[in-house]
Amino acid sequence: MGVFASTDDPGSTGHEQVVFCQDKQSGLKAIIGIYSTALGPALGGTRFYPYDSEDDALADVLDLSRGMAYKNALAGLDLGGGKAVIWGDPEQIKSEALLRAYGRFVESLAGRYYTACDVGTYVADMDIIARETRYVTGRSVEHGGAGDSSILTAWGVFQGMRAAAEHVWGAPSLRGRRVGVAGLGKVGKYLTGHLLEDGAEVVATDVNPKALAWVRANHPQVTLVDDATALVAADIDVYAPCALGGALNDDSVPALRAKVVTGAANNQLAHPGIEKLLADRGILYTPDYVVNAGGVIQVADEIEGFNFERAKLRATRIYDTTREILHLADAEGVPPAVAADRLAERRMAEVGRLRTIHLR
Ligand SMILES: NC(=O)c1ccc[n+]([C@@H]2O[C@H](COP(=O)([O-])OP(=O)(O)OC[C@H]3O[C@@H](n4cnc5c(N)ncnc54)[C@H](O)[C@@H]3O)[C@@H](O)[C@H]2O)c1
Repeated sequence: MGVFASTDDPGSTGHEQVVFCQDKQSGLKAIIGIYSTALGPALGGTRFYPYDSEDDALADVLDLSRGMAYKNALAGLDLGGGKAVIWGDPEQIKSEALLRAYGRFVESLAGRYYTACDVGTYVADMDIIARETRYVTGRSVEHGGAGDSSILTAWGVFQGMRAAAEHVWGAPSLRGRRVGVAGLGKVGKYLTGHLLEDGAEVVATDVNPKALAWVRANHPQVTLVDDATALVAADIDVYAPCALGGALNDDSVPALRAKVVTGAANNQLAHPGIEKLLADRGILYTPDYVVNAGGVIQVADEIEGFNFERAKLRATRIYDTTREILHLADAEGVPPAVAADRLAERRMAEVGRLRTIHLR
């Protein structure tokens, strides 16, 4: 895979900067990918994962950092897109020294890249990284951080779902609709609360008995089904994948009875052809990276000094962005994900261009 953009090599990615970092004593091997700083410093989490090879780690960081540029642009943030990976098993090698060594490499980029939590890294890790660098978000509340990002992730998903409901049924409300929530974890639980408050009926599932017990105790009106397969086949209006990626695949989409899919899970489409399958079946899919941006909006707010109400206001705008994307998709006859990419690219070009106006 090439990093430098080339018209001869369609596999090249066009990143601004890719940094390899190593600290032999602590065992740190990290790659920081900065896709774009057109809108501001690149923001994206650090994934700590035991990749099979360095090539796999590089491919993941290039892919994820590009995705963050689009997500942050659509979230209306003055932030570019970046991401980092630490190559190794966090259970085996994560230590204070390793995290602080990583923090020093983040600091060395002098604010071109801000990090945050991702798979394998947690709020407590960000607090340790913050001892070496100012350029870290997702810290604990005690350390000036935004705390649990799933609160605004769920709020943003709910806003995206309201926009989809308006597009399909004419009113921005889930009142009287049956919504199927797959995954009652941090986001799924909050989302269920918003849906019930809005007057929706919720059908849900989870593989974790503790999550099911929580819902039985807190929202006894929720109907629980055995698994995601049963949920997909249930008589629901909206399907909300809030567990793992790949929920929309060659098996689930043909069986789906819902007219709308809006959920928090990352990478919901198992492969690119799935979006056409959804469109052919007349199912409206709101791109995951548009509607689940509430979390990044929440942690990004830390850069200004965290203010929950301001961050919530920004996450509420996911309703407007989703609406705009769905209208653009209709107007240009393209799937919502293509419309979303066009909107993100337009913002990066239009706002990024303003840097050419010289200021002292
Ligand atoms: N937390 C955030 O701020 C945030 C932000 C953006 C995207 N996301 C994405 O949203 C999704 C949910 O995140 P979360 O923070 O709630 O995670 P979580 O781990 O708290 O919850 C996931 C839940 O899904 C359940 N689950 C796993 N496999 C399942 C299956 N096959 N069927 C049904 N349930 C299953 C788990 O038991 C768990 O309760 C993830 O894909 C995550 O990447 C989260």
